[in-house]
Amino acid sequence: MQTRTIEWRNGKVVTIDQTRLPHETVFLELKTCEEVAEAIENMKIRGAPLLGAAAAFALALTAYNSRAKTVEKLIREMEKAAETLKKTRPTAFNLFWAIDRILEKAKTFEGNAENLATFVVKEAQKIADEDVEANRLIGKHGANLIMDGDVILTHCNAGALATVGYGTALGVIRAAWEQGKHIRVIATETRPKLQGARLTTYELKSDGIPVTLITDNMVGYVMRKQLVKKVVVGADRIVKDAVINKIGTFTIAVLAREHNIPFYVAAPKSTFDLTHTSSDVIIEERSPEEVTHICSKRIAVEGIDVLNPAFDITPLEYVTAIICESGILYKEDFGKFRTSCT
Ligand code: MRU
Repeated sequence: MQTRTIEWRNGKVVTIDQTRLPHETVFLELKTCEEVAEAIENMKIRGAPLLGAAAAFALALTAYNSRAKTVEKLIREMEKAAETLKKTRPTAFNLFWAIDRILEKAKTFEGNAENLATFVVKEAQKIADEDVEANRLIGKHGANLIMDGDVILTHCNAGALATVGYGTALGVIRAAWEQGKHIRVIATETRPKLQGARLTTYELKSDGIPVTLITDNMVGYVMRKQLVKKVVVGADRIVKDAVINKIGTFTIAVLAREHNIPFYVAAPKSTFDLTHTSSDVIIEERSPEEVTHICSKRIAVEGIDVLNPAFDITPLEYVTAIICESGILYKEDFGKFRTSCT
């Protein structure tokens, strides 16, 4: 998994359709902001850091395709595109962070509309490049927490596919593996969209890292059997009091605490939303079909009520440490959260 998941190529955004993995590797060539928004909504593009880069490239497409003659008009077009993008997936903070970064820089840009379009494309590229650098650093710091012989449980997919490259939680695992540590991974399947079963096992197997797939409801069993040494997960948003990540993360954190297993969260600072608390965050609710069906096949009777929150909230008290590109922030330091991780 060395290649980048998203690239700007001659006025198009090229990315992998993650809904087709692991059976088929299909590349999408997206030409408009709307096409990127559709791909995000339908989870062809997914994972918080990748959503940030995709949103940045979507604004780049808007700027690149624009016929606006003035900077003011181009900014208005980008603001409209930003509104569309921000409605796609409300929980992942990186999406909002990347859009706001581009719009803020565009508003102070000095030059004509054509130069601004070139600038936006470059800024989107910079966001993508920075993500890979951040993940490499997360891996380097996080690998210090992993010992030879460890078995690490991870949830959902916080790998190269969820980022521009290398991954966050899987970046930590990859870096430890690259250091020659003999580790093994337990991946939860991650219902309803099966990112663990479809994507995490695919990535790890490609890299030759031993991985065992379990269903989500086996976590208590493997922990009680002392088969797990550490948990490492990613995050969609880290707020002042909690980590928000794929539905099921909180259950794993509670079980980890019960069994005295360290629970680590790996995320770049573009995931940190430290002006808000968990009660401010919108948890995305997705379509009932994701629960009533598996791979488009109905498994539940028709006409039943369904709850389908895509993420849950893990209070910081359950988190042993947060690994970001600046280093490892331990539980004891969460009080000085804002200043420590800068
Ligand atoms: O719904 P998804 O697949 O976009 O959710 C992804 C996750 O929950 C990941 O753990 C998170 O985005 C971190 S990815 C580095």
